[in-house]
Amino acid sequence: MAQEVIKIRGGQTLKGTVNNHGAKNSAVAIIPASILAEDKVTINGLPEISDVETLVSLLGDLNIKTELDGSTLNVDPTEIENAPLPNNKVESLRASYYMMGAMLGRFNKCVIGLPGGCPLGPRPIDQHIKGFKALGAEIDESSETSMQLVADKLVGANIFLDMVSVGATINIMLAAVRAEGQTVIENAAKEPEVVDVASFLTSLGANIKGAGTSTIKIMGVPHLHGSNHQVIPDRIEAGTYMCIAAACGEDIEINNIIPTHLEPLAVKMKELGVDLTMEDDSVKIKRKPTYNSVDIKTLVYPGFATDLQQPITPLLFLTDGVSFVTETIYPARFKHVEELQKMNADIHVDNGTATVKPSTLKGAEVYASDLRAGACLIVAGLLAEGVTTIYNVKHIYRGYTNIVKTLSALGADIWTEEI
Ligand code: EPU
Repeated sequence: MAQEVIKIRGGQTLKGTVNNHGAKNSAVAIIPASILAEDKVTINGLPEISDVETLVSLLGDLNIKTELDGSTLNVDPTEIENAPLPNNKVESLRASYYMMGAMLGRFNKCVIGLPGGCPLGPRPIDQHIKGFKALGAEIDESSETSMQLVADKLVGANIFLDMVSVGATINIMLAAVRAEGQTVIENAAKEPEVVDVASFLTSLGANIKGAGTSTIKIMGVPHLHGSNHQVIPDRIEAGTYMCIAAACGEDIEINNIIPTHLEPLAVKMKELGVDLTMEDDSVKIKRKPTYNSVDIKTLVYPGFATDLQQPITPLLFLTDGVSFVTETIYPARFKHVEELQKMNADIHVDNGTATVKPSTLKGAEVYASDLRAGACLIVAGLLAEGVTTIYNVKHIYRGYTNIVKTLSALGADIWTEEI
């Protein structure tokens, strides 16, 4: 079967403006969350990515009327039906696990295929399940391909997460907003996307306090109405373009950002020596020929985001010394390393830490094993001498709106081919 590849002839200088989109990791939770509403919902500022299309199509499987027009989605859940969702669409993206919390919250029942997504090593959902059980759900995991969650009724509970998990925090919120009484989530994730989902749910009439802190309190309400919500800007998409700008941008401005959300990256970039100016809702970056070597350790928010660990790595080839990148969230998130080695990069991984040395990258045939590995290979391809061909680009399209067109407009020599 024909497949699309992205090709890049590196070495061009990029210039211009990037309009950043809405946050993927908010969008993929807010779309499932819309089924908790009993009236029409409009979601604005969605990224135009395949994960959004897949989730919208899953809503259709529940007899929900949807209209997706660019970055705006109208959802009419008034004729919703509780249908089982054990299909390929569910497996194609990890965030389909949010259908569990949302359907449980809406119907006290959900039958769903097991979630897929990027292969970043083992990604259990035990904390989600622990939360659903605490709220009163019984889980049947006897099938290898799907799961059934059923509750007579959901009743608020105190849930302490064993590890900080974005997915479990959001999923438990989704199940708890219509439960009887109060739910308290302790050791909750503080990521901006958690706050965005909480503000969407609040706009539907939910009662949530403390989102953005490690203790979230949810007082259940019997009904949720419709609303109109604007998704927050994507800090990872913006961060990826910041890395691209620092690699090969003469003068690049990235619009539609929330500077605080990008602070952990901006601080690290300043340590690298990147020439970066933050404005109210944009950032300007000019590349430098060389940078200082730095150490990076991924942490939960407000630490350095795991999702930016891969895109920033190519900048470390431009430094004057040895850098170390330690991944604490997904210790196996290093599949890009082998691909970078094919591009003449001096990078090695041992025990969750990559050692990165100055290197001159050369174009090669490389494979995007996951979304952010794909973003890393794009940054590397833009820096490399000669042509880089990136295979398996479907992962890249899961998370970046029109990335080839955007880079091309900035002056990159980048195109797609069917092979
Ligand atoms: N974990 C468990 N059990 C659970 C849940 C999580 O052991 O029940 C572990 C995970 O295996 C991981 C850590 O806890 O080691 C953190 O996982 P988390 O639940 O926070 O991750 P997630 O919700 O599955 C989201 C984003 C990821 C992002 C992480 C961390 C979505 C759809 N995905 O994943 O985004 O890397 O949070 O911030 O929101 C991406 O955008 O490329 C991406 C992978």
